[in-house]
Amino acid sequence: MDQAVTLRRLSQGTSFSTPRTASSSSMLRGLAVASGKGGVGKTNTVANLGYALSSMGKRVLVLDADMGLGNIHILLGLAPRYTLQHVISGERGIEDIIIRGPGGLDILPAASGTRKFSNLTGEEMLTLKTELEVLESNYDFILFDLGAGISSNVTYFCSAAKDVAVITSSEPTSFADAYAFMKVLSRDFDKRDFKLIVNSVKSKKESLDVFSRLSQVSDRFGLDIRIDLLGHIVHDPVVSTAVRRQMLFTEKYPNSPAAMCIYDIADNLVRTLRPAEVRWGKIFS
Ligand SMILES: Nc1ncnc2c1ncn2[C@@H]1O[C@H](COP(=O)(O)OP(=O)(O)O)[C@@H](O)[C@H]1O
Ligand SMILES: [Mg+2]
Repeated sequence: MDQAVTLRRLSQGTSFSTPRTASSSSMLRGLAVASGKGGVGKTNTVANLGYALSSMGKRVLVLDADMGLGNIHILLGLAPRYTLQHVISGERGIEDIIIRGPGGLDILPAASGTRKFSNLTGEEMLTLKTELEVLESNYDFILFDLGAGISSNVTYFCSAAKDVAVITSSEPTSFADAYAFMKVLSRDFDKRDFKLIVNSVKSKKESLDVFSRLSQVSDRFGLDIRIDLLGHIVHDPVVSTAVRRQMLFTEKYPNSPAAMCIYDIADNLVRTLRPAEVRWGKIFS
């Protein structure tokens, strides 16, 4: 990345997108959405939550942090010309790769089908951090759609975002991975606060059961963490229908049970997420 270009951007700000509201100083809130296990609904949750927050008047940026297997743009039926990989390699500035999604949602897409950036080096993380800082004042929320597992990319974005949401279903495999994920993050990265989203449940009660079991297990094994239930998403056929049609269920089926759950989570986020800077510098210090 050309240092001069980066410094110029930092000093001049950026003009790539017109702010949705005339709000002055940004209180950017960062939320990384993780799960440990794959296929539990991270990408759908991030994209639909982004849309819901956006339709509530918030300026939202979604970053596809599943480098190498990025698929948010596929979910939205978009074909980006450039991706985060072009930013990391210095070929493009971050403004050049933003694509506008439904409802004015801004997306930083990731490439699919490459292993090149599946584990960013320290230098690559620094390049991304520098570029992202340029955008901070333009948004109220930045949501990170993480990949599965506990790779260095996943822990990097969890460290950068102030808040971490963990998604699980009520299946024991997903539950075990959510627990293992929080254990590693707390032990090795000093993350103590987690927001829980329980996906694909029959009812709110099922999500409360999962929440209480997870809290009990973490107490029993002496994990020094705090888990807050952010919400639940019911199992709903519109999710898969919308995916097949490459549309968001919150947009196409706003009155569906799953969409209502997403709006509840968005409300909850707006009320509870700590207004704080995304701490890009933390893991480098
Ligand atoms: N609440 C739900 N109801 C029904 N199906 C769901 C729900 N959440 C996720 N799915 C299904 O699971 C698939 C995987 O979801 P996705 O968001 O891509 O998971 P991840 O990003 O964690 O790998 C979706 O394509 C959809 O078919
Ligand atoms: Mg995904």
